[in-house]
Amino acid sequence: MSEKQPKAIVVIFGATGDLAKRKLFPSLFKLYRKNKLSDDFAVVGVARGEMSNEDFRKSVVQSTGKSDNKQIQHFASHFYFQSADVTDKQSFERLQVLLQQLDGQYHTEGNRIFYLAMAPEFFGTICENLKSSGLTATDGWSRVVIEKPFGHDYESAKDLNNQIGRVFTEDQVYRIDHYLGKEMVQNITVIRFANAIFEELWNNQYISNIQITSSETLGVEDRGRYYESSGALLDMVQNHMLQMVALLAMEPPINLTRDEIQSEKVKVLRALRPVTEEEVGEYFVRGQYGSGRVQGQDVIGYREENNVDSDSTTDTFVAGKLMIDNYRWAGVPIYIRTGKRMEEKSTKIVIQFKDLPMNLYRDKNHPHPNLLEIHIQPDEGMTLHLNAQQKTGKEDSLPIQLHYCSNCDDKMNTPEAYERLLFDCLLGDATHYTHWDEVSISWKFVDAISKAWNKNKDIAFPNYESGSMGPDASDELLAKDGFFWWTVKSKPSNS
Ligand code: BG6
Repeated sequence: MSEKQPKAIVVIFGATGDLAKRKLFPSLFKLYRKNKLSDDFAVVGVARGEMSNEDFRKSVVQSTGKSDNKQIQHFASHFYFQSADVTDKQSFERLQVLLQQLDGQYHTEGNRIFYLAMAPEFFGTICENLKSSGLTATDGWSRVVIEKPFGHDYESAKDLNNQIGRVFTEDQVYRIDHYLGKEMVQNITVIRFANAIFEELWNNQYISNIQITSSETLGVEDRGRYYESSGALLDMVQNHMLQMVALLAMEPPINLTRDEIQSEKVKVLRALRPVTEEEVGEYFVRGQYGSGRVQGQDVIGYREENNVDSDSTTDTFVAGKLMIDNYRWAGVPIYIRTGKRMEEKSTKIVIQFKDLPMNLYRDKNHPHPNLLEIHIQPDEGMTLHLNAQQKTGKEDSLPIQLHYCSNCDDKMNTPEAYERLLFDCLLGDATHYTHWDEVSISWKFVDAISKAWNKNKDIAFPNYESGSMGPDASDELLAKDGFFWWTVKSKPSNS
């Protein structure tokens, strides 16, 4: 097997769903176009209902947004549709016959990825049926990719993990957190561990606080049913936000292998100070959007959205203060916030450094601490905020910014998160997937908060206007500690 051109059959459960069309088919096509897939691959789309291979291929072509040219037709010719009821064993037996035939046709050597892109309640059943119908017993390797949500609390996640574990070993399980496929999230470890000027200062001696914001302008769209039982805490904090925290706070691993990186991330998550029911109000803020204006458009409030209760107490915004009780981070608050229907779509990390003990140029009214901003999206890059004398003629220090942008010149060619992650899975590299230990500890941390919130539903929602940056309490969370959210509008550029 050529290392860069893995041979495999990718079986996608939920092949008519949104994720397959929006992310998986286009990502596979990009890999194909970049020559990262050999001609020895096949994709089997599994879903309920009947569809011919021709119609399935048409939907694949359509999803890539490409016109009907030879390359896309050739790519789509590798796709096959298999109608199946995932609770019915016979469906799996038919699938096995098809996979055996495709193995021969495409020389895929029995290598199989089972991608579960459907309702989580079926994950366990699918795994069990895959095993009992012999689909995992091949001459090659088999891997399973699990989409979120991975459970809805620690107990359900553990049950799910046990079910999957009866069929696949931890090494075969690829739990997706698509933030881990983002260019600048992957860059966090490079920025830290390849730059002496940062890593030496990366601790409670020099950093005063860290802020991570992931704001969205969209509301819940057509996902009201799912979102009602999840809210921002389970949808974003348990996974994406805590993963970014772990990467920012972990110790340097002894090497860059999956095991070593994941083990360092686990240590960070274990050091998170648990939030008790009594303390939840001190550390966490929840919000829900009302109506308002986002990017020039009037929008409705969360309670008016489809499939949402008119008196829903679901959180569409969360801000939190996390403390990591270990030697490196004791005393440094890490503030996180995420929400829907906010002012802008942006994910950004700001590292605020402490001021010098005797800064002769300090302006008490306009402090300009050194900041390192890591722009995750839409811009990808970083900005370092420093102070320097400018041509004012006075001995003044003024803020200046050094920018680096990794996607300014070539936006089109930055691989999308799913493209990277799918390729990693084909290569057998699970470094940018989450280990069960990370998932389970994150659930335990978040469970305590959601339990406290579920007990106290007496909350005045909505409490932030669409198009704003969340409820006032989110600003107060930082103000109590003498900080504020940095909303610096710096943009990285290469000019
Ligand atoms: C998903 C959440 O995991 O992440 C969505 O389920 C959210 O609710 C999305 O919109 C945000 O991802 P991104 O890549 O657009 O920041």
